[in-house]
Amino acid sequence: MKQVSVLTMMLIFIGMAQVSYADNNGSMEQMKHHNMKHSMNDERISLGLSPKMKQHQLANMRSHLEAVQAIISLIAEKEFEKASEVAHSKLGLTEEMQKMCNMFKNDDFKFLGLAFHKSGDVLGETLKSKDTHKSLRALQTTVGYCVQCHATFRQ
Ligand code: HEC
Repeated sequence: MKQVSVLTMMLIFIGMAQVSYADNNGSMEQMKHHNMKHSMNDERISLGLSPKMKQHQLANMRSHLEAVQAIISLIAEKEFEKASEVAHSKLGLTEEMQKMCNMFKNDDFKFLGLAFHKSGDVLGETLKSKDTHKSLRALQTTVGYCVQCHATFRQ
């Protein structure tokens, strides 16, 4: 039961990442501050993407979210090998993702994107340990990058 509620909370968090702010060690003060700013104005850094890049990025993002859902459900079913495959192939630093990240002009964004994909590979390796708690911790680190990037950048 405890595990299910942790997973539910994580899904809610991913949804909230689009509109609210939190960072890996974020204080409540910072959170309040950023929420207030967001309600008035979107002050996130714009990447200035072309319409084509925008569509491509959003499609990629939807696939990231699907991967997180698949991994959560595979952990719940104790299908760690399958979860590991999803983590490596959909969230890890594949050649395709490396190319995609390198297309961005903003260096901070690129750095965050690459760090995120590396965490996807760490998640893939951790899942192989078949340890639920370690795996959830690794997943939380990866989802932390989703939250951090969404709080900082917009298209
Ligand atoms: C390095 C930055 C970065 C990382 C990491 C990142 N995203 Fe995104 N994501 C973005 C940006 C930028 C947008 C566009 C947001 C905007 O313009 O408001 C976006 C948009 C989205 C959207 C909206 C898609 C749509 O069709 O409207 C979803 C869903 C999403 N991300 C999921 C995720 C998930 C899940 C993760 C982590 C597993 C993740 N993202 C990691 C940068 C990132």
